[in-house]
Amino acid sequence: MSPTDKIPYENLNLLNKEFEDKFKSQFDEFLNKGWYIMGEGLSRFESSFAAYNKAKFCIGVANGLDALEIGLQVFDFPKDSEIIVPSNTYIATILAIINVGLKPILVEPDSTTYNINPDLIEQAITPKTKAIMVVHLYGQVAPMQKILELAQKYNLEIIEDCAQAHGATINHQKVGTFGNIGCFSFYPTKNLGALGDGGAIITSDENLYLKIKALRNYGSEKKYYNKYVGRNSRLDELQALFLNEKLPYLNKINQHKINLARIYHNGLTNQVIKPVFTEDYSHVYHIYNIRTEKRNELKKHLENQSIYTEIHYPVAPHLQEGYQSLWNGSFPISEEIHATTLSLPISYATSSAQVEKVVQAINQFFSL
Ligand SMILES: Cc1ncc(COP(=O)(O)O)c(C=O)c1O
Repeated sequence: MSPTDKIPYENLNLLNKEFEDKFKSQFDEFLNKGWYIMGEGLSRFESSFAAYNKAKFCIGVANGLDALEIGLQVFDFPKDSEIIVPSNTYIATILAIINVGLKPILVEPDSTTYNINPDLIEQAITPKTKAIMVVHLYGQVAPMQKILELAQKYNLEIIEDCAQAHGATINHQKVGTFGNIGCFSFYPTKNLGALGDGGAIITSDENLYLKIKALRNYGSEKKYYNKYVGRNSRLDELQALFLNEKLPYLNKINQHKINLARIYHNGLTNQVIKPVFTEDYSHVYHIYNIRTEKRNELKKHLENQSIYTEIHYPVAPHLQEGYQSLWNGSFPISEEIHATTLSLPISYATSSAQVEKVVQAINQFFSL
């Protein structure tokens, strides 16, 4: 097999080829202007990303983890407050809660959608519960209606982790606008990815907006006057300029991934568990994962054919070395997902022909 026949999991160089000329002219302009931090590019991106999501406000921050931390910090919850979070999320969601001095309460996911199981949330609520961190994992919208009902019943805030779900919707309403705050990452591999780190928070609450805007810039509303104990977490001007060029293509990027997912869905043998989705709850396939008991053997089989896959994620958060002392519950559904999941190539840089080859190679493995 020649190197060109390789099917990588991701190819950032190829993914960004289409935008290269635009990026270069933005960089030239940036150099000419000499305005490197919080310039016109950032304000323009904030307005455009708010408009894209139909939120009133957007605040660019340095990365997705900071978006989640600031999204919690802005509420000033008492120190021992509990925050509900899915047990199978990427570690950043849980780490954000710990980093701001709050207590993560893990709730198991639904084993077919991989999003938090809303029927298990109520039993995890205590008088100390202050918020639910919803994660739209892999790009599929979480069951917001039930979550919103619970939040209303128990007077909880909702912070949405949209790092994997830019542009996903329920009945045309975008993720990040169901709760009080939506948090995004623009890590390069995300559906809307920068050429470095980046993140953003969206909200339609003006008071939250003003405070978040200050928190990301030393807690300052007026230069050298610090109203809050803030931090330095500004979305870099250059990344904002690049993101301005890519945002108009986000729907196209999502549609490409949805088309590839359809090929997987229709072509793959039913011997693997495929992602389940409901009509109104859209899925933008940041990740297309399948599950099988033979995950490790299948991964190897594909690698032998120069097809590269990833595992999101190999170890459940409660079993991570640095986190084990934090809880003593058991999370068998998470463990089962982590032991069997395999993510297939589904980049904007992946072609339909490549996906068909992956399908063939997987079906061949199960027919052996
Ligand atoms: C679900 C989720 N939350 C948060 C983050 C954190 O984003 P960042 O890497 O930009 O800090 C990520 C990024 O990988 C993520 O997948």
